[in-house]
Amino acid sequence: ADFCRMWRVMYTGEYYAKMALETSPMWDKLEQDLGEKLIDKSGLLNFGIDTPDTPEGTMEDAKKVMQKLKIPFTQLTSAQLMQQYPFKNLPSEYYGLYQANGGTINVQGVLRGYYKLAATAGATMRSGEWVTGISPSPTYVDVETVKSTYRASKVIVCAGAYLNDLLAPYGVKVNLQIWEMTFAYYQVLDPSVTYPMWFQFDDTPASGGSSLFYGFPSVPWARPGYLRLAVDYAAHVSDSPIDRTNVPAVQDIHLTMDNIQRHMVGVSTQPTQMGTCLVPLVPDNGYVLDFAPPSVPNRDNVVIATAGWAFKFAPMFGKLLYELAIDGKASRDITPMAITRPGVVVDLYPGEAKTASTA
Ligand code: BEZ
Repeated sequence: ADFCRMWRVMYTGEYYAKMALETSPMWDKLEQDLGEKLIDKSGLLNFGIDTPDTPEGTMEDAKKVMQKLKIPFTQLTSAQLMQQYPFKNLPSEYYGLYQANGGTINVQGVLRGYYKLAATAGATMRSGEWVTGISPSPTYVDVETVKSTYRASKVIVCAGAYLNDLLAPYGVKVNLQIWEMTFAYYQVLDPSVTYPMWFQFDDTPASGGSSLFYGFPSVPWARPGYLRLAVDYAAHVSDSPIDRTNVPAVQDIHLTMDNIQRHMVGVSTQPTQMGTCLVPLVPDNGYVLDFAPPSVPNRDNVVIATAGWAFKFAPMFGKLLYELAIDGKASRDITPMAITRPGVVVDLYPGEAKTASTA
């Protein structure tokens, strides 16, 4: 959503850290092809305590993965954190892990760049054309939209939170918990302070919500002089994007304001430019990148990507989706992202035969 997304190789899961290491040169190549910097590499600082598992994993598991894969990082004590970064009143048990390859992705720059490359390669872009159905036959797929019907030999569906309407005729859905995440920008009041991109890990407060926070640095393409700061949580969760309110959650803003007051130096506690964005999550917090669910006839003509904070893997996922569609198999292991892994696909009408017709 918005202007900023994270790029990082610091992951709790070894599979994702390895995939990030493979994706890193792909971002470099995209920057070279476009002649433009797309990632501001201020590094990623994880700090706090070693919590139970969170949507961003844990501090210690990420450390173990970095040690195993020989990813360079620096460990800091609570005192060093406050010396080197503009944080204050950090508990003495806090520690930090700084990994220099992390950075803020210029979302609009990447989208513009991909549109440009796609147009140069002969692709036609149609926007504002709601897709109402996909019907795969053995040799082609019909894509029905509010304006027209298109026939293609293969279809790649990257509908994110909006995927399930397309699967409903096949009696299934992907088990998406859709978080409506609230974010806001906060003015940097002291121009001498510089923040990296960061995650703060702490125990869930007794009053509820979360103490997992994140922050982006001030970057030239996203409200310079302001930081995007938020709690990595959503008070508003639903299983359908139709429930989106577009209203920032007061509870989430208050958690963030309180954390700024307690721990950040040189930053206003007053939110501005608030917004919400949808992130669809599957139960294991991973991604889905695979053919359509098994109940979809001729499923290997339809390739799907959904779930998770996946923008950082855009160059890798683009390649894998292309390979599945064109070669029928991916050039790297994608089993952890399988749509057939337990808990991902839900039968809408258990016990009933599927009735969807094919084109
Ligand atoms: C991300 O871009 O991956 C991200 C950003 C904010 C919160 C969580 C994840």
